[in-house]
Amino acid sequence: MRRLFVTTALPYANGPFHIGHIMEYIQADVWVRFQRMQGHEVHFVGADDAHGAPIMLKAEAEGLTPEQLVARITADRPRHLNGFHISFDNWHSTDSAENVELSQNIYRALSAAGLVRREPVEQFFDPVKGMFLADRYVKGECPKCGAKDQYGDACEVCGSVYAPTELREPRSTLTGATPVRRVSDHYFFRLSDPRCVAFLREWLATPGRLQPQVANKAREWLEAKGGEPLADWDISRDAPYFGIPIPDAPGKYLYVWLDAPIGYLASLKHYCARTGRDFQALLADPRTEQIHFIGKDIIYFHTLFWPAMLRFSGHKVPDHVWVHGFITVSGAKMSKSRGTGLSPLRYLELGMNPEWLRYYIAAKLNANVEDLDFNPDDFIARVNSDLVGKYVNIASRAAGFITKRFGGEVLPVEAGRSAGTAAWLALAEAAGERIRGHYEEREFGKAMREIMELADRMNEAIDREKPWELAKDPAQSRRLHEVCSDCLEAFRRLTLLLAPVLPHTAGRAAAMLGLPLPLRWSQLREPLSGRIQPYEHLMQRVDPKQLEALFELPAPEKPGTAAAAPAAAQAPGTPRAAARIGIEDFAKLDLRVAKVLTAEAVEGSSKLLRLTLDLGGEERQVFSGIRAAYEPQALVGRLVIVVANLEPRRMRFGVSEGMVLCAGDDTSGIYLLSADSGAAPGMRVT
Ligand code: MSP
Ligand code: ZN
Repeated sequence: MRRLFVTTALPYANGPFHIGHIMEYIQADVWVRFQRMQGHEVHFVGADDAHGAPIMLKAEAEGLTPEQLVARITADRPRHLNGFHISFDNWHSTDSAENVELSQNIYRALSAAGLVRREPVEQFFDPVKGMFLADRYVKGECPKCGAKDQYGDACEVCGSVYAPTELREPRSTLTGATPVRRVSDHYFFRLSDPRCVAFLREWLATPGRLQPQVANKAREWLEAKGGEPLADWDISRDAPYFGIPIPDAPGKYLYVWLDAPIGYLASLKHYCARTGRDFQALLADPRTEQIHFIGKDIIYFHTLFWPAMLRFSGHKVPDHVWVHGFITVSGAKMSKSRGTGLSPLRYLELGMNPEWLRYYIAAKLNANVEDLDFNPDDFIARVNSDLVGKYVNIASRAAGFITKRFGGEVLPVEAGRSAGTAAWLALAEAAGERIRGHYEEREFGKAMREIMELADRMNEAIDREKPWELAKDPAQSRRLHEVCSDCLEAFRRLTLLLAPVLPHTAGRAAAMLGLPLPLRWSQLREPLSGRIQPYEHLMQRVDPKQLEALFELPAPEKPGTAAAAPAAAQAPGTPRAAARIGIEDFAKLDLRVAKVLTAEAVEGSSKLLRLTLDLGGEERQVFSGIRAAYEPQALVGRLVIVVANLEPRRMRFGVSEGMVLCAGDDTSGIYLLSADSGAAPGMRVT
């Protein structure tokens, strides 16, 4: 029996999960559930990554303490995790007593090993905010090409890379103040130490530890050209900072990326305390396999810093770091802060089945670091054809006859009963072993393909046996009973093979078939017998309307309708007044005059028009829900009013970069606002 300690990357606690997080959890969860089915001991933990400047600043902007902000985000996690059947054994936070203790101990151990050095560093400092500025909080003119409004690390116009102190006309993005140079002592982890380099070489060279592509990447960083050793790693930040104090260094905090992976151990420790396990023993046990699932953007931290931190603080090192690519939606990358239009919460709130997404993602995953795309039409086609059309179909074709004709009794399986089904059982025997290998290797796409091929073969056998015709002839009753029993045996096996991906459906199928829980892989060899419960439909098809709703703009707040106002109490035609706001709230809106350049109906949507707008030298695409009220052609050339500073929103059909203002209510339709003649595109509405 294996003992597995499995983690996923710790999400920043500054926002809700996006589809990238959910994809990572689904990958790890499928693997974990598969291992549990093998009878292995699995400890699967996650946590929120709570520390760092962005969270501190965001909390401040909302008038909260960082702890309050993190608590609000954390409170929302279970909805997503339970909603998508992610089976973490524990969820914790890096802002926890366990993590403070572990992180300070690890720091002390590294320091005692002579691997921490102190060095003065000159950095930009915001005199108004009283805070050192990370590169992303400084903007100015590019020192090479002079482009305005460039960040402190690189120019988006000419691509050159520089230090923030090289910017011309620098300013703090936090206060607008001109930053000053100031020196402060920083602590560095000596990755350049020959002990570290030698250890990492060996760790990276262990066969099977990493995907080859990942090991190569890490080796490139390690063996930088020209014989330059790895640069030492700056692990301290000055107050004010939301983080863990560095022992014996007043005003200094550990950089968030030092305490973040230690959060894996903190969550395990919290879990051990909760469940009466010995944390130290579990972590140090050479038999414990420590496995991290992460995305491709954080390889550096997990293959260089993290193993070295563990090794030189006297811990066991990670056994595997399994890296996945990024999920895109209809081919578009998503922004780390905004996510995409595919909101996991909206998905759940629309009542969409979480197992559809689990299956779709599993079917597209492999063991390489490849991006995968969520394509709405592909999603509908795969789920409907594979899960409903192939898998569930086998049960629904047979179970009714068993219940109605044979009192729910299943005949024990005997090979050779009908040519079709006997052949199927032999096929399934061999495929089961291969599918096990695919799951183990995280080749979920291959596993799903093999499972669906088995389902195809069984459906063909059913088509040949034609139970619906056997059912018409009383003389064929025995044959009908045999064929339907074989169908259910096939369905039972497919259920076991799909259980890591479809835990909920597998549970319901198990109840119908009378299988003992929890489901185990070894049950593949325990053929069905006895009596089944009446079949209840196991899975609905995806309705394309649900996908349309998933990618639609959120329903516009009707003018004057406060969100909490009870609709019934409203007299028609007199919308309730919204809460009062100050002028400063109004000033946050960037309303512009825009000219409609093109307008067209959006295929696949009954409500939307795609507009291209001229905002005075800038062109934007906006999707507007006015199809019912306007002919596209009638709009071209018109002036409209646009909310220009709305977060762009990814929809099923593309990105919508603003919102066109309309008046209207439920009964009398929709009326575009326009500007009097003389107004020009780009003019601000004030
Ligand atoms: N807090 C750090 C991780 C610390 S681990 C000790 C972090 N957080 S994150 O919220 O930005 O990302 C969490 C995980 O989500 C990472 O593994 C990241 O690669 C993954 N993803 C973020 N966007 C993603 C996609 N678009 N697709 C798939 N995974 C993506 O980094
Ligand atoms: Zn430049």
